[in-house]
Amino acid sequence: MDHILGISGSLREASYNSALLRAAQAMFPERVKIARIDGFPLYNADVESAGFPREVEQVKQQIAAARGVVLVSPEYNNSVPGVLKNATDWLSRPSGDIRNVFEGKPVAVTGVSPGGFGTVLGQSAWLPVLRTLRARHWTGGRLMVSHARDAFDEAGNLADEEIRSRLESYVGGFIAYCDGLR
Ligand code: FNR
Repeated sequence: MDHILGISGSLREASYNSALLRAAQAMFPERVKIARIDGFPLYNADVESAGFPREVEQVKQQIAAARGVVLVSPEYNNSVPGVLKNATDWLSRPSGDIRNVFEGKPVAVTGVSPGGFGTVLGQSAWLPVLRTLRARHWTGGRLMVSHARDAFDEAGNLADEEIRSRLESYVGGFIAYCDGLR
């Protein structure tokens, strides 16, 4: 119950966003857990009616048990990536469960991009989604990681010391905020 749950919005093996989340977990190994969304089907109400996917139910329970959630989201076409939006849509079902899963849950949104703007537009695009889920969007810090090819080494390690320091402040600040809500 003391953990923060991190979710990466990219499924690719060498994802910069997943690499940033792994770096955060390595900095706070006792506090940051990572949830997987790669087993989620595309949302389809017929699939939901036929039997709620176990992979989705597990992540719903992980969110419900977490102090807070960190979405590490790529920006696609200046907005949210479909993979993570699809996951969020599943996690909001059935709508009556939003109360136990997202309502009042602190959520931090960050992201990495190879370009110069570090997902700033994508992060803003999450705001109406979080408002609809009645989540508590954390505004105590912001982290936009740009020029990803320079920040990570070929093994996917966050090699840039300045970004490591910003990440530590960001995640540490979010953990402190979540702990202060107890
Ligand atoms: C992108 N990318 C991108 N980058 C950005 O900064 N702003 C954008 O609007 C977009 N749009 C976009 C659309 C689509 C369909 C793709 C596939 C990509 C580039 C994106 O930031 C880049 O692929 C990242 O590497 C994706 O994150 P991961 O997979 O490395 O975590």
